[in-house]
Amino acid sequence: MSTTDTDARHYDLAVMGGDGVGPEVTEQALKVLDVVAERYGFSTSRTSYDLGGRRYLETGEVLPDSVMEEFDQTDAILLGAIGTPDVPPGVLERGLLLKLRFAFDQYVNLRPVKLLPGVPTPVAGLTPERCDMVVVRENTEGMYVGAGGTVYEGTASEVATQESLNTRFGVERVIRDAFERATRRGNHLTLVHKTNVLTHAGGLWMRTFTEVGEADYPQVERDYVHVDAMCLYLVNSPERFDVVVTDNLFGDIITDLGAAVQGGLGLAASGNLNPSGEHPSMFEPVHGSAPDITGKGWANPVAAVLSLAMCLDHLREGEAAATVEAAAAQALTEMEGMAGPEMGGSTAEIGDRIAATAAG
Ligand code: NAD
Ligand code: IPM
Ligand code: MN
Repeated sequence: MSTTDTDARHYDLAVMGGDGVGPEVTEQALKVLDVVAERYGFSTSRTSYDLGGRRYLETGEVLPDSVMEEFDQTDAILLGAIGTPDVPPGVLERGLLLKLRFAFDQYVNLRPVKLLPGVPTPVAGLTPERCDMVVVRENTEGMYVGAGGTVYEGTASEVATQESLNTRFGVERVIRDAFERATRRGNHLTLVHKTNVLTHAGGLWMRTFTEVGEADYPQVERDYVHVDAMCLYLVNSPERFDVVVTDNLFGDIITDLGAAVQGGLGLAASGNLNPSGEHPSMFEPVHGSAPDITGKGWANPVAAVLSLAMCLDHLREGEAAATVEAAAAQALTEMEGMAGPEMGGSTAEIGDRIAATAAG
């Protein structure tokens, strides 16, 4: 965190547009940030970092240590998206995004799944009242740690292992975070796992969930759903869920499904949170670089704007956060939900509209 700033309402932000549509949507979020900073009387300084596919292909650099050190001095990081078909899978995803999540101990990946009024959802008959939850995705362990290896690569005898690492410490801290959120919402927490098959990891998650709940959160109703059934319920009865806690990979998968239910990846926001504040948190849309629509001006910037709202909330600029959220919701009702060739506005037009509404 920034130690040099004495002004409590000044925020140093690192901004990484990244690849594909990342810079396009991030630009809109920054527009909105300018407007609410002015309106609510706080200031920001932003350093833009040119990281991602282009930088890697030109220089071989993914995330230099010096940049990590600079990031660590900031109050928050805003990311667009990284990953491009020009770079082998994993180089940027592991070397940049996961490196930041792990190194800055952003162990909570908070992903709201909320259907906003007026947004077309593919789920027939679904109403906003029936779809409003937050997914607390474990963000530093599980399959993502990269444990495993390959032998005899490229031969008929090739063997590959990929292990999921789960520690009592890591599982407990994210479960505690989710229980805390549940007490601030509807006192209902669902654990999603696959305890019927993944008995080792599932056992640890379930025992920790039960022990922490019984000991410290008896008022929170506990529920458990297998991840396969979750894919069914998330679509046909999302009203079952208020706060959901799950492991890293399951959380990745179910939140893309949740994004579809709430109207598309262009609407789904996330925060990679370091709850202790020891290192900065990072805010980004759930979506990736969307190479199929890059440069067309169709990318929906709402996910990036709602991620900015989460960032403002994290910085304790609650009023500004609420204004940004409301302005995005308002724009969606006016512009029929999504950007795209068939919709009511380009990326920049939707950004402009949200900024104009947020200005008051
Ligand atoms: P993706 O999220 O980029 O795209 C999936 C689909 O959603 C595409 O059809 C895309 O056009 C659509 N979409 C995404 N964002 C949209 C938006 N703002 N508005 C409208 N439509 C949108 O996922 P992918 O195609 O599987 O991955 C592409 C690259 O992005 C890969 O390299 C992947 O590793 C990377 N990725 C990065 C992040 C991240 O930076 N956080 C997240 C997911 C994927
Ligand atoms: C996400 C993305 C990342 C993940 C990738 C790009 C590493 O899919 O943020 O959801 O799997 O967490
Ligand atoms: Mn994902």
